[in-house]
Amino acid sequence: MARKAVITAGTGGIGLETALGLAKAGYAVTVVGRNASRGAQAVDRLNAGGGEPARFLQADLSSLAEVRALGERIAAEGELAVLVNNVGAMFEDRTELDGVEASFVVNHLSPALLTELLLPALKAGTPSRVVNVTTGAVVLAKKTFDHAEPPGGYYGFHWYGRAKLANLAHTLDLAARLRGSGVSVHAADPGGAATDMTDGTMRKSKIVSPALRLLWPLVRRKFERSTAGAASDAAKSSIIAATDHTLPTGQLIGPQGTPVPPVAAATDPRVITAVRRLTDQHLTHTPVPDGVSN
Ligand SMILES: NC(=O)c1ccc[n+]([C@@H]2O[C@H](COP(=O)([O-])OP(=O)(O)OC[C@H]3O[C@@H](n4cnc5c(N)ncnc54)[C@H](OP(=O)(O)O)[C@@H]3O)[C@@H](O)[C@H]2O)c1
Repeated sequence: MARKAVITAGTGGIGLETALGLAKAGYAVTVVGRNASRGAQAVDRLNAGGGEPARFLQADLSSLAEVRALGERIAAEGELAVLVNNVGAMFEDRTELDGVEASFVVNHLSPALLTELLLPALKAGTPSRVVNVTTGAVVLAKKTFDHAEPPGGYYGFHWYGRAKLANLAHTLDLAARLRGSGVSVHAADPGGAATDMTDGTMRKSKIVSPALRLLWPLVRRKFERSTAGAASDAAKSSIIAATDHTLPTGQLIGPQGTPVPPVAAATDPRVITAVRRLTDQHLTHTPVPDGVSN
């Protein structure tokens, strides 16, 4: 029987390229997205390779109720070899989802919840692995995690980086906790690519702090340069993290496809403890699912 892989936000951008790489490596791929026609197109592309049949599952991963329904459904299907938590989002304006700031939900709580729900399936499918997609934006993040959101003005790029930093610390913490279980856990930094996410949100100076806004022409040029590449190149780090079985658990795979050291805050015990507490606090009170469809 084919080994199974799930890629969230896998119907476009870096996620679809990751799914194509895993399909090529012989996995039976499930891609998750919101839009059914995009999902159908992704499945056509995946199946054109002639490998194991792919499928699409519809879920809005910004809703923890939908994440829970999705996780319970996949978990009920038994063994899972690979989970790539690729979903990510940046918000221009402060937004709340079920009362929690949206970046923190989509970039951290959503993948953390899906992973937790799929752990029994991953443990049944050992040797298996979790790959959480991160970003270089973690370096500009506030490092306090007493609450889902720090006080002060809202700057989408920095809040995105902070949520991804929480997720990176969580990834390394989870890798340590699962050491010896047969489930390895990695982070993958795609570098940058021209995708829906970068085309839409990286054009407005309001996504950066007032200090960086003063340098906006320079900052914008840097954004443009760093996100000009192809999603197929950016998917390399996730594909390697998911398929290279020589990697010891707890690696951050950089844009060049090799392990790189994580930013110091991600291994700071105070950050890890605060993120663990905040994550547990939020995930024990997730909304009840309405169900997902395919
Ligand atoms: N692009 C970059 O330069 C860059 C750099 C560093 C890190 N990253 C990270 O890489 C990952 C992928 O980035 P990307 O640029 O490829 O993103 P993207 O352009 O937003 O990805 C598009 C895919 O995400 C799905 N999607 C978006 N929101 C969703 C939601 N709420 N629920 C379910 N599916 C959703 C879309 O499907 P539907 O439209 O059907 O929902 C589509 O399949 C993210 O974690 C991002 O933070 C990207």
